Formats: sequence, C-alpha cells, structure tokens
Amino acid sequence: MLYLIGLGLSEKDLSLKAFELLNNIKNIYVDTYTNYFDFDLLWLEKALNKKVIPLSREDIEKIPTFLEIAKSEDVALLVSGDPLVATTHTDILLRAMKNGVQTKIFHASSIYSAIAETGLHIYRFGKTASIPYPEENYFPRSFYDVVIENKERNLHTMLLLDVKREKNLFMNPKEAIDILIKIDEDRKIKEIIIISRISHDTQRILYGDIYELAKFDNEFYGLPPHTLVVPADLHFAEEEYLLSLAEIYKNSKNK
Ligand SMILES: C[S@@+](CC[C@H](N)C(=O)[O-])C[C@H]1O[C@@H](n2cnc3c(N)ncnc32)[C@H](O)[C@@H]1O
Repeated sequence: MLYLIGLGLSEKDLSLKAFELLNNIKNIYVDTYTNYFDFDLLWLEKALNKKVIPLSREDIEKIPTFLEIAKSEDVALLVSGDPLVATTHTDILLRAMKNGVQTKIFHASSIYSAIAETGLHIYRFGKTASIPYPEENYFPRSFYDVVIENKERNLHTMLLLDVKREKNLFMNPKEAIDILIKIDEDRKIKEIIIISRISHDTQRILYGDIYELAKFDNEFYGLPPHTLVVPADLHFAEEEYLLSLAEIYKNSKNK
C-alpha cells in the first residue's frame, strides 16, 4: 500500500491519524522538491524513532524505488501542504495503481485554504497560476494572461512562486514583483497582497501598491515560502479584514 500523506503548512500540522499510521510503517519518504522545506523533520524522526528518507524530484519522477517496495510493503510518502494541491502527485497515484499498488490519501492544511487568512473570500478566486523563473531566451508570461482574465471577471488571482530545489532557488516576492512589472506594460496591476510563511511563527501579510512594494529588497521579505495575490475589486468585508491585519504600503500619489 502507498500512503500519500500531507504534512500541512508547517511543523506538526500533520494529522494525528497520519501520525498514528506512521508509527506502524517502516518505509517513510518525504518529497523535498515541491515546496521550500524548512520545517525540521527531526521531531518526527525522534517521535517515531525511525528515519525519514528525503527524495528529490529525480527520485520521485524517474526512479520510483518506493513504488517497487510498495508492491509488497506499506510505504508512506510525505508531502508538504496537501498532497494533491498544486503538485504532481496524482501522477504518482496513477503509476501506483497501474503497478497494482493500492493507495490511500491523508489530506492536510494547504496554501489553497490558508490564503483565506488574507480576508479575501475563497469563492472569489479565479484560476491559480505560478510565476516561473525566466530562462535564457525564454520569458514565460502565461501567468500574466491568467491574472488579466481573472481581473476581467473581477476575480482574485493566487500566484505561487517558483521552487527550483535542485538549484536551491526559491523565488522571493521582490523577484516576482519585478517580473510582473516588466510584463505589465499597461500597468493593469495596481495592488498586490503578499503572504509569507503562512502557519509559521514568522507569518506575514503585506498589502499595497505594486510600485511601493517593489522598493523593498529580498531581505525585507525574508525566508520562503511566499505567495502573491492580485486582488479583484475588494468587497467591503474583504477590505475591512485585510486592512485590519496586513502591513499596508500605499502611496496616495499612485492613485
Ligand atoms: C508547489 S506549491 C505546493 C503547495 C502545497 N502542496 C500545499 O498544498 O500548500 C508550493 C508553493 O505554494 C506556496 N506556499 C506553500 N506553503 C506556503 C506558506 N506556508 N506560505 C505562503 N505560501 C506558501 C508558495 O508559493 C510555494 O512556492
């Protein structure tokens, strides 16, 4: 059996049900490449008194040893957030099923629901997009089209930031804002919200004019993970909540 288990957004967000199951499983792996992984799994290794083996993208996509083991033994694959949200793990489940391995999913807290901490109503979000790192001769912009389509429908856009664990690159809001400003020649994006390290002690929510927020450097925004939101017109209840909890960076001259 392959158990796909969500770790949630921070240390100890793992469900009690999952923890109890892990006590009885010998083969425990953790996907370290789909998110910035700063929470210490030592507590889990100590609590379970067994090793948790980290897996890279290559281990998971190209050499699925854990799937071979899962044919005859129980295997747990731990994933940050919810295992089926904004990741490629449905592919693993399909491969398991094709190999005759039974699967079970343990859900957990996710950026997709935690984003509501901004006060924005979850049902007013349109399609989500990711901002990738530009590459030599390739400057992707499809995420910008998503922002504009959502804006036209008066929907918020959640923008996930690129994670390239192999190169130790985790996109900072400053880099994301610079990319957005470069693409947004007609200046259609006026305001953004930045949500950093949700569910961590250092959680932070910033709201303001994109050009004001562009003035800060990487250090100001701190460690990943971060998510950006390009808000639609705010409902008064959304605005009241957001203004009451966010750090505000507005400049009346930008109006
Ligand atoms: C590929 S997604 C993985 C999402 C994860 N499976 C989940 O359910 O939350 C990774 C991206 O989600 C966002 N993210 C994940 N955890 C976050 C957190 N605690 N605070 C802010 N953004 C987060 C970041 O944009 C990060 O680059």
